[in-house]
Amino acid sequence: MLLRLCVVAVLMIPSPSYGGSLLEPCLPCHKKSGEPVKTDVTPLIGSQNTFYLTEVLKDYATGKRPTEVAAHRQIPPHQQAAYAAHFAQQRWVSPWQPVEQKRAERGKSLVKGCERCHREGGRVQFDENPRLAGQRMAYLRLRLHQFRTAGKIPPQPEKMRNFIGELNDEQIEDVVHFYANNR
Ligand code: HEC
Ligand code: HEC
Repeated sequence: MLLRLCVVAVLMIPSPSYGGSLLEPCLPCHKKSGEPVKTDVTPLIGSQNTFYLTEVLKDYATGKRPTEVAAHRQIPPHQQAAYAAHFAQQRWVSPWQPVEQKRAERGKSLVKGCERCHREGGRVQFDENPRLAGQRMAYLRLRLHQFRTAGKIPPQPEKMRNFIGELNDEQIEDVVHFYANNR
């Protein structure tokens, strides 16, 4: 009897729905696939690893990573893992972007120091290091400027700041074109 009650209880716990309702607050800006809806600074998030996505959502919730998007701050802590799991399972679909080859070539020599954490030209993602290759240019640009100028946005490794602190505006642009080109 007790066992049967347990089974019923387990069945009554709603399983995380990766389809409709869970994703609803995200859909104005991120498609179910993790591709951006708009062509603004919204990034690709499909297939970033679960660890990274969970950390980002935690940082949004605690205010450690500032965001203007209310939906980011409103994610209940117990649902962070479900969102991360859903987007981590998607495919990374790099969009075509207007890359300038000259800039991309210059960028290649500028990212040598970044390889330690963003390997193979930013294609590899592991632990807390996100994929950069084929990411939206507007988003890469936004983050690099945030990292360099604000410098104080906390979820940023000290070692990375040292590298980015040395890039001028033109070089940031070259880096953006390099990663966007490496789809
Ligand atoms: C109004 C548009 C909007 C909505 C709604 C929205 N996002 Fe975002 N999302 C953005 C923008 C813009 C950024 C980049 C700027 C920032 O960090 O706020 C972003 C960034 C992210 C990132 C960071 C990606 C990275 O590479 O670091 C994650 C993860 C994310 N969103 C998940 C979600 C989830 C999960 C939801 C739904 C609960 C959601 N977003 C709802 C616009 C939105
Ligand atoms: C010591 C490891 C390390 C080095 C070196 C490093 N990064 Fe990062 N990078 C990270 C980590 C970790 C994050 C995720 C930070 C967070 O939680 O938002 C990140 C995030 C980023 C992001 C934002 C991606 C996103 O989805 O929000 C960009 C862009 C970036 N790095 C570019 C660079 C560039 C360009 C260099 C070299 C000039 C560099 N990084 C060097 C570890 C590193």
